Amino acid sequence: MAPVSDRLPVFPWDRLEPYKTAAAAHADGIVDLSVGTPVDPVPAVIRKALSAAADSPGYPLTYGTGSLRDAVADYLRDRLGITGARPANVLPLIGSKELVGWLPTLLGLREGDQVAYPELAYPTYEIGALVARAEPVTYADPVADLDPARVKLLWLNTPSNPTGRVLAAAELRRIVDWAREHGILVVSDECYIELGWDAEPVSVLHPDVCGDSHDGLIAVHSLSKRSNFAGYRGAFLAGDAAVVKELLGVRKHTGMIVPAPVQSAMIAALGDREHAVVQKERYARRRAVLRTAFESAGFRIEHSEASLYLWATRGESCWDTVGDLAKQGILVAPGEFYGPTGAHFVRVAFTALDERVDAAVRRLA
Ligand SMILES: Cc1ncc(COP(=O)(O)O)c(C=O)c1O
Repeated sequence: MAPVSDRLPVFPWDRLEPYKTAAAAHADGIVDLSVGTPVDPVPAVIRKALSAAADSPGYPLTYGTGSLRDAVADYLRDRLGITGARPANVLPLIGSKELVGWLPTLLGLREGDQVAYPELAYPTYEIGALVARAEPVTYADPVADLDPARVKLLWLNTPSNPTGRVLAAAELRRIVDWAREHGILVVSDECYIELGWDAEPVSVLHPDVCGDSHDGLIAVHSLSKRSNFAGYRGAFLAGDAAVVKELLGVRKHTGMIVPAPVQSAMIAALGDREHAVVQKERYARRRAVLRTAFESAGFRIEHSEASLYLWATRGESCWDTVGDLAKQGILVAPGEFYGPTGAHFVRVAFTALDERVDAAVRRLA
């Protein structure tokens, strides 16, 4: 057997380990701003729903309960203005990373097919292509840069990890029109959609983008960031009815099922706006103080109008910046992890507790 892992790059975070060790040696401890993982408590409303569903002896539905799919459709309509959201065209996911890593395989892409994603991107889009033996290709502008005859799957990511950039409705519409003209499936990873700071992110399924039809479009959403749900693994997709049906069929056969207590917790999370507002306020404060501190320390921040990151540069190699900050006990992610054009940037996550964020601010002063 040829190991699949032979086709995959080195897990990027392993390369950060020496810097993590250096940062951890700081007398006042490490401030870890590298991984965008939630650090605040899971909201009580969600924990309660999980516990209440603890007695779940039977197999859950791959499609999700009707209540879960109703909750998703209500959320998409009420919160994001997706008037065409239908419970039938929704599918729960075991976190969205699972889908990103497996979608090309689930859709039957193979050698010769291309999977396209932004030139600065979450690394798992590439992994998904490589697992399927498809060809990963990157773009600055998909319409200008890609060969529509070969691209089968076009990933969008708005707001973007790592840059925090938001694609405006008109820009999304231009890309969707082009993709539809060429029969390319557009899958928009919108896991940071509720975390807009200087811009209001819009879904690819919003009528301003796609009109009355979701044909050829899938939006992927995650509760990990909005609801501190990363440890529970809960996400969902919605959109093109035929694609949802096909994915459901394959996922049913392969056991890609969200556990029943997690499905209940998802319903509670989607039905409660208050905890999401409180969490967003926490991030807003951390973002503001870190932004000021990094700018005062000579960094320039690009984009970063949404998401959980500041995309920062001091005009030097990202590894020099990572090394220098590690000496101050601050760990950030090198921009190179997200693509060669990030080589002079670092990604600063504001997913650290207030006390740690304030420690970073003091060290940068
Ligand atoms: C752009 C992007 N997509 C997907 C994910 C995966 O999130 P999850 O698997 O927790 O839903 C992340 C996580 O950081 C991300 O940044």
